[in-house]
Amino acid sequence: MTEKIFSKLKINEVTFKNKFVVSPMCQYSSKDGNPINWHYKHLENLANSGAGLLMIEATAVEKKGKITHSDMCLENSNNLKNLKKLVSHVQKNSDIKIGLQISHSGRKGSTELPWIKPNSTLKKKSWKTLSPSPIKREYDWPTPKEMNLIDIKTVKRKFSITSKLAKKLNIDCLELHMAHGYLLHQFFSPISNKRNDKYGGNLKNRCRFLIEVAEVVRKNWPKNKVLGARITGVDWIKKGINLKHSIYLTKQLKKIGFDYVCVSSGGLISKTDFKPKPNFNYALAKKIKKSCKIKVRVGGMLDDINFAKKIINNNDVDLISNARKYIYEPNFILKELSKLNPKNKIVPNQYRRCYKI
Ligand SMILES: Cc1cc2nc3c(=O)[nH]c(=O)nc-3n(C[C@H](O)[C@H](O)[C@H](O)COP(=O)(O)O)c2cc1C
Repeated sequence: MTEKIFSKLKINEVTFKNKFVVSPMCQYSSKDGNPINWHYKHLENLANSGAGLLMIEATAVEKKGKITHSDMCLENSNNLKNLKKLVSHVQKNSDIKIGLQISHSGRKGSTELPWIKPNSTLKKKSWKTLSPSPIKREYDWPTPKEMNLIDIKTVKRKFSITSKLAKKLNIDCLELHMAHGYLLHQFFSPISNKRNDKYGGNLKNRCRFLIEVAEVVRKNWPKNKVLGARITGVDWIKKGINLKHSIYLTKQLKKIGFDYVCVSSGGLISKTDFKPKPNFNYALAKKIKKSCKIKVRVGGMLDDINFAKKIINNNDVDLISNARKYIYEPNFILKELSKLNPKNKIVPNQYRRCYKI
């Protein structure tokens, strides 16, 4: 018998072959916003992992929305041409469904490559970052520009353009990055949003920009495909985002036609109450699914496959997201499958002998 985690999941007209998702992973290796050879190797490997959905890394909607100078970007026809070539290359060798995460870094941008100096802002070739309020991310980071109404309109237009370009990529899923301390999260959290206008203050106002962006993207993205958002369940900071807030946001996203949320947490500032431990987002995700009755993906040190099977069987969540596990143990799904039904077609024919199936 096939375990539920290995069974298909259909959302709209897209069928994922199982419930495993490769989490988006920024590679900070693009040139002029475009993928390089590394991306071909990286995504091709991940595409053959046996997962049902492969999320392409956070891709900026404009240059100012990158984290580092080397982030992927989708803002013009040249970016589209290059990313499309990569997507079709991956699709030639794998039946995995492909998603793209789109993002704006806000005040978390203009940073060094993490392997040069982690969590550090650029000293040379820096750019003025944007945020809802002129509040630094850390004491030694620059003060971002407080976005005025024109900036808000401009960034919304950037999300609109990117989502229209994404439609031409022949991918299956689009995801708005509203978590990990990036621009949309900065609007959402009372820690980073101290505005006095209709985009700040109470919860409804703090969600306004997120919802306006979501509405624009909803209009542009085909209804037969999959549309979701990565949200923050909690900030792990006193007086920051709590579950009540993330449930409210999720209900708004559901109302405008989003198909799922991926529940993550933290990332707004570096000093928080967060203590990394296995499955740290699971309880948040379960509560959000129960309250909002929307499809929920969850990840975050969720590396124990038996635990993943259990929470899928219990219908606590719908999809399991892993990032680092696919790097450490790229074939864990195929290995697990070798214990199951030999007729399962997920293992590529060329590798079946290795798994005795
Ligand atoms: C190299 C790397 C790059 C990442 N880039 C992104 C990203 O582009 N977008 C995102 O939402 N999360 C990103 N993350 C977070 C992961 O998607 C994931 O949520 C996190 O690593 C926790 O899951 P894990 O314990 O399975 O690794 C990144 C993580 C890693 C390790």
